[in-house]
Amino acid sequence: MAIFSDDENIQKPLDINKRTKNKNLETKETAFDKSFENNIRPKKLDEYIGQSALKSTLKISIEAAKKRNKPLDHLLFYGPPGLGKTTLASVIANELEANIKITSAPALERPRDIIGILMSLKNGDILFIDEIHRLNKVTEEILYPAMEDFFLDMTTGKAQTVKTLRVPLPKFTLIGATTKAGELSGPLRDRFGIIHRLQFYTTEELSKVVSRTAKILEISIDEDGAAVIASRSRGTPRIANRLVKRVADYAFVKSDGKVNAKIAQDALEALNIDDNGLDGTDKALLKLIIEKYDGGPVGLETIAAALGEDSKTIEDVYEPYLLQEGIIQRTPRGRKISPEGYRLMGYKVPSLQQQLF
Ligand SMILES: Nc1ncnc2c1ncn2[C@@H]1O[C@H](COP(=O)(O)OP(=O)(O)OP(=O)(O)O)[C@@H](O)[C@H]1O
Ligand SMILES: [Mg+2]
Repeated sequence: MAIFSDDENIQKPLDINKRTKNKNLETKETAFDKSFENNIRPKKLDEYIGQSALKSTLKISIEAAKKRNKPLDHLLFYGPPGLGKTTLASVIANELEANIKITSAPALERPRDIIGILMSLKNGDILFIDEIHRLNKVTEEILYPAMEDFFLDMTTGKAQTVKTLRVPLPKFTLIGATTKAGELSGPLRDRFGIIHRLQFYTTEELSKVVSRTAKILEISIDEDGAAVIASRSRGTPRIANRLVKRVADYAFVKSDGKVNAKIAQDALEALNIDDNGLDGTDKALLKLIIEKYDGGPVGLETIAAALGEDSKTIEDVYEPYLLQEGIIQRTPRGRKISPEGYRLMGYKVPSLQQQLF
């Protein structure tokens, strides 16, 4: 049942297969990102834009650790992809003038993988484990005493002759990063002294990211041009950085290479990125809730099945930004479109009564 018979949008059939995924708006890291990542990654806390609450906590902890000459507490960063978790880990290492070893949970398959890394650390080193929610049980259990008391519990011998050996480890700091804090086991989470969620960036903050990246890449861009790119980057620095490159290429080919608001708008339009940085999947999702489910609530699994997407992808990649912007809402009975969501998609906002029934 359509709610608004007077709305012409309703007449259009819902063609989900027509949606296109816009690679430029993917939050996951691509080979293209990696190729220019090292130059543009902030090195110091002062260059790291936004996340001000987290930065001030960190500044104090870093200073205290330095003064006491003790390692920093173990840190856990979580939040959607591309917000700067890995970057922050290396910034912290730079601030502490410490070495950093970078690994990720899927690479720590066998006990000897993690043991090897732990044994290779030196006092004050930082161990960064990405996707830490994917650690297996055995590796986790090796980490517990290592994190808590800086010991490795090793067993030697067989059957009756088995002996447990406590091997001391250097005092290191573990930094864990995950997009799925909910999937971390309780005991592991409890061993982190500082747990922090990274926030989406405001347009002002992303404008700074855009200007900074443009400067490093020697791209000429004015403030308005930066603001246009920022406002369409889904609150995510990784996307902002990618769009700067794309828009600069466009400016180079179509005009004198300088980026202003007009060029940025034209370029983003050519890239099929709308005013709000929503892509085909976002729009298909919103349209589905509005047209097929009268605005919701509708369960995540139902949405995923209808879109032909994995429910985890919807939950981890698409939803966080839509929720943050108040375009959709989470209710105990499923996802609902907000009045803002209706407006954004060009639909009339139903009256409160219509929304209730
Ligand atoms: N606060 C920031 N200031 C400036 N640039 C940033 C900031 N945060 C992230 N970036 C840039 O955004 C890009 C993505 O950051 P990063 O790789 O650290 O994200 P991530 O949270 O680790 O993502 P993932 O979850 O996919 O691992 C990098 O190119 C980095 O330079
Ligand atoms: Mg990362």
